[in-house]
Amino acid sequence: MAKPKVFATHSLFDAARQILQERCEVEYWAKPERPPREEVMRRVKDKDGLVCLLTEKINEEFLSAAPKLRIAANVAVGFDNIDVAACTKRGVVASNTPGVLDETTADFAWTLLMAVARRLSEGEALARSGNWKNWDLDQLVGTDVWGKTLGIVGFGRIGRAMARRAGGFQMKVIYTDAMRAPADVEKVLNAEFREMNALLAESDFVSVHVPLLPETRGLFDAPKFYRMKPTAFLINTARGPVVDEAALVAALEAGKIAGAGLDVYENEPFIHPGLKRANVVLAPHMASASLETRTKMACIAAENVVSLFAGRRPPNILNPEVLKSS
Ligand code: DGY
Repeated sequence: MAKPKVFATHSLFDAARQILQERCEVEYWAKPERPPREEVMRRVKDKDGLVCLLTEKINEEFLSAAPKLRIAANVAVGFDNIDVAACTKRGVVASNTPGVLDETTADFAWTLLMAVARRLSEGEALARSGNWKNWDLDQLVGTDVWGKTLGIVGFGRIGRAMARRAGGFQMKVIYTDAMRAPADVEKVLNAEFREMNALLAESDFVSVHVPLLPETRGLFDAPKFYRMKPTAFLINTARGPVVDEAALVAALEAGKIAGAGLDVYENEPFIHPGLKRANVVLAPHMASASLETRTKMACIAAENVVSLFAGRRPPNILNPEVLKSS
């Protein structure tokens, strides 16, 4: 029997390719740049499966170009690039890669937090510049991290991984979420629940860990920044559009907050010029980018595809109702 045809918009990692090749005939996009949308839509025309990255927008227009498609497997935990309802309407399974990137992403949120608090980018630039003349008492003085208050917005797996790391810095941890965590979780993580406004007023570092949903788009707007301490920092490793970038720039310019550590942006890869300031540490959406984690993510996406074609339920299906109706 002919194997199902799959298009992968990235060459993936060997381990993931091995999983896919067992059951599927796979065509890979192997160029270093991301494929143009028209090219992906052309290649997916005769395909039964798709492995895609968060840079591909899987919407009604895309799906109408892929009449045979049965699965769109995202190599990311966030799936705001996929219109899941449109997939469901067309009987296409949508899947993501939860669970394997929580610790790696939390590590990186901490990297940004430490870097912006301790002015690492400025220090590194000075050290490399050849202009470092001498040690001085008030040179590049930043702000302490240890003993401060960490406010976590979104207390899911990544938010909790963030909280776990705070104990080593003797920090007070407060969090907010649409749903309060069970008491045993709060106890183990030594975390206290706060309403959003109270969290903003109390935190020295506010770290964002919510998914991008209609209700979280623009969540951090001008009034939110006005509620933060002028000495506080915003850390965002979630999704760019959760923060209103123009409002953030205005808050930074007006000294309403002390700085920011950002991995994600409203219109990636564009970065608002107003964010290119000394008190903002910028990274190019790389929080999950360890070789171990990215390999696991690719393998999970491959397993989702292979499971479907083997007649099993893909482990990370986002729209299980598609399988019930078939
Ligand atoms: C995700 O998985 O959603 C990240 O943004 C990329 O790892």
